[in-house]
Amino acid sequence: MKEKKIQISFTKVKIQELGIEEQNLISKARNASGNAYAPYSGFLVGASVMLENGEIINGSNQENAAYPSGLCAERVALFYVGAKYPGVGIKAIAISAKFKTFEMDDVVSPCGACRQVMAEYQQKQEKNIRVLLHSSKDEVLIAESISDLLPLMFNPEKLRKF
Ligand code: THU
Repeated sequence: MKEKKIQISFTKVKIQELGIEEQNLISKARNASGNAYAPYSGFLVGASVMLENGEIINGSNQENAAYPSGLCAERVALFYVGAKYPGVGIKAIAISAKFKTFEMDDVVSPCGACRQVMAEYQQKQEKNIRVLLHSSKDEVLIAESISDLLPLMFNPEKLRKF
């Protein structure tokens, strides 16, 4: 038997320590959370994606009475990017969340399905996507790459039949 270890890394900063572009991205994500349609969970999430062409695409979670039909904020934003700007590189994604009636103290950490989607877009573009997780205390957890969020991702290469 051989034990192997994977190291992941994050940094935690105050929002004021970031450059103006990323501060702006976070505030867009924060505003986007206000557009969530989340009558079932009351959990409002915003995600903003910064593209290489300077565009910022915002998404928010969209729920449905048939629960599994809903979609997380991250995938709403990322799939829109894929559909509208195919081939344009993604630089960063910022995520911010709050409850309808109160603030969350901690950051929201994306679900596994969203991580897998982020990981595949990152792999496709062969360039890291920076992930900024915002908390209401204006602290930001930063991962330089999706690999830090999803080590051992399901690799699309595995679908190659020959
Ligand atoms: N949600 C997101 O939009 N992003 C996340 O990272 C975690 C969860 C949404 C899905 C659902 O609408 C609500 O939050 C509660 O799970």
